[in-house]
Amino acid sequence: MTMNPTSPACQLSIEMPLAEAPEGPQIVRASVKDLKFWYGKFQALHGVSMPVWDRRVTAIIGPSGCGKSTFLRCFNRIHDLYPGVRYEGSIELAPENVNLVSRTIDPILVRLLVGMVFQKPNPFPKSIYENVAAGLYVRGIRNKGELDGRIEKALRQAALWDEVKDQLNKSAYELSGGQQQRLCIARALAPEPKLLLLDEPTSALDPIATAKIEDLINQLVTDVTILIVTHNMAQAARISHHTAFMHLGELVEYGDTQQIFTTPKVAQTQDYVTGRFG
Ligand SMILES: Nc1ncnc2c1ncn2[C@@H]1O[C@H](COP(=O)(O)OP(=O)(O)O)[C@@H](O)[C@H]1O
Ligand SMILES: [Mg+2]
Repeated sequence: MTMNPTSPACQLSIEMPLAEAPEGPQIVRASVKDLKFWYGKFQALHGVSMPVWDRRVTAIIGPSGCGKSTFLRCFNRIHDLYPGVRYEGSIELAPENVNLVSRTIDPILVRLLVGMVFQKPNPFPKSIYENVAAGLYVRGIRNKGELDGRIEKALRQAALWDEVKDQLNKSAYELSGGQQQRLCIARALAPEPKLLLLDEPTSALDPIATAKIEDLINQLVTDVTILIVTHNMAQAARISHHTAFMHLGELVEYGDTQQIFTTPKVAQTQDYVTGRFG
């Protein structure tokens, strides 16, 4: 498909650096099939279907209130903490194809398989060490040597080790906002999840801390599959390989990030990525 060189989407593609497609075969890590979700009587998701590719970054974009967070939260069953919610359809996690939203699956188990990081850094009021250890305790790991090793590994993966290695017993609250968010990423990574969910992880951070998290995402994706909600189009283009555009609880368009940003198939997607609405 050729683009009109004067169209806004085309200009956008020239201005925006896109994440490089990683090498190697593509494997589906999770399949979302006709996923519907209700908060009580309000239906927030209307049959979303899409693949989540292994060790790739998938960006979820769309105007405020369109269901991005709701969709992301289905993957680790955070909704189950509230009464009156209901799921239909499935999110099948490969290779076992367990349905993450099945009532028969323990949400605690799901949260070990699927880590999550929120918009505002939310470390526990505990030491740096204890924050990262939290998910490991849930997994039943008590051996000090094993804990130490896994905590160091997670902090290294989150690009925080060098900054905190001599002060692991310090309160997490003494860290900067950007460091706290990397600590939350380390905490999510420690149980070695299959999927990492990031819900606008940089929206509370300054540009330097944001750049560090974006670099980190680029490195992490060699080991873990990442789903990220972002309202920042340039960020989605910089760090993701696949993009899902949502509107009013529906998946309007899904595709390779390059395609979504340069040759969207749906007019609504084009309007959104070029900043004409949302
Ligand atoms: N806990 C809740 N109870 C009822 N409705 C909710 C709740 N959380 C979100 N919603 C509604 O679900 C829709 C999608 O919200 P959300 O997933 O937070 O959107 P986004 O992350 O795209 O801004 C909105 O209409 C919102 O008002
Ligand atoms: Mg949200």
